[in-house]
Amino acid sequence: VREIMVDLGARSYTVRIGPGLLDAAGPECAKLRLGRRAAVVTQPAVQPHATRVTNSLRGAGFEPAVFVVPEGEENKSLREAERLWDGFVGHGLDRHSPVVAVGGGVVGDLAGFAGSAFMRGLPVIQVPTTLLAQVDASVGGKVAVNHPRGKNLIGAFHQPRLVLIDPETLRTLPEREYRSGLAEIVKTGAALDAELFRALEAGVDALRRRDATLLESVVATCCAAKARIVERDEREETGLRMVLNYGHTVGHALEVLSSYRRWTHGEAVAIGMTAAGRLAVRLGWVGGDVAARQDALLQAVGLPTRFSGIDPREIVDALRHDKKARDGRVPFILMRGMGRAEACHEVPMDTVLEVLREIQE
Ligand SMILES: NC(=O)c1ccc[n+]([C@@H]2O[C@H](COP(=O)([O-])OP(=O)(O)OC[C@H]3O[C@@H](n4cnc5c(N)ncnc54)[C@H](O)[C@@H]3O)[C@@H](O)[C@H]2O)c1
Ligand SMILES: [Zn+2]
Repeated sequence: VREIMVDLGARSYTVRIGPGLLDAAGPECAKLRLGRRAAVVTQPAVQPHATRVTNSLRGAGFEPAVFVVPEGEENKSLREAERLWDGFVGHGLDRHSPVVAVGGGVVGDLAGFAGSAFMRGLPVIQVPTTLLAQVDASVGGKVAVNHPRGKNLIGAFHQPRLVLIDPETLRTLPEREYRSGLAEIVKTGAALDAELFRALEAGVDALRRRDATLLESVVATCCAAKARIVERDEREETGLRMVLNYGHTVGHALEVLSSYRRWTHGEAVAIGMTAAGRLAVRLGWVGGDVAARQDALLQAVGLPTRFSGIDPREIVDALRHDKKARDGRVPFILMRGMGRAEACHEVPMDTVLEVLREIQE
């Protein structure tokens, strides 16, 4: 089992990564001196994994009630949070009762948000079961639900008390979800960790067949990279945490313009990274070889690097209205070199348009 500490003073916690950890959830939670009544929040597709967690909790003396949230991003909603709160009251949870989220980012964000507000904050245990949630969503304490007018509009910072990652859960993940998670891993390499990027290049075949050993080490590396950023900028105040949004500026615009239907989040981010790579080349931040390596890796793991069906001018318009835009310019996260991304506030929209035309199919 690998262990990563997230050092945040009184809010510090451990991320544990290893096969079989689902069955250790009970003893692991017992070490934290939590209340006996517990809530397990999950989704239908994750039920077999959640059952192992629930049984383990029972075996360690907890009294878990299981709450199953319907599938889909649209259920990361205040309505579902309210259903959870009703259930928490019904099950008699108190201030020390753990809320255990077993599932992808939807379950993690929703259960985390419900836990953050109930009785002003219950201890939350994240047990992420998608690759995206294992390398990104479960660490860092951002929890939220969506509003009909925008994603993650209602949320909080609420660090988990513990994160348990069992890479064996990835075996049941649908292929497209799996690849979507790979995009965030490539992102971490390109933005923060050149050595990780090289390991990914060398391990393309192993990644494609979900090699357990490689995945365990890659997930651990990504969690550690995110932990180091979160430790220095827990609440996204200094701008440092922004580098985690590499590829997300254009990616987010694509998601919004396609009403979140055409691309998965990871696919949109992969296209966004391709755009960011070319912008960095045009601004003289990196040589063409760096951007080419990134495109090659994305393609090798089966992610898109081109888009169609949307006018590049529409994307630029959407960027101008991004909530982070100032005077019609958005900050872009760009590579200074492989594994070294920084915010750039000086990207001319004409250059963005040219780059988008280049990667339009
Ligand atoms: N809090 C953060 O810092 C953060 C970071 C990134 C993303 N997010 C959020 O995460 C969400 C996306 O998460 P996601 O990509 O994990 O999607 P998701 O939670 O919708 O999961 C995708 C699908 O896979 C199913 N599933 C989960 N684990 C499975 C498994 N092991 N086997 C089979 N099926 C399984 C789920 O039930 C779901 O149907 C978005 O709402 C996004 O905003 C949050
Ligand atoms: Zn992302």
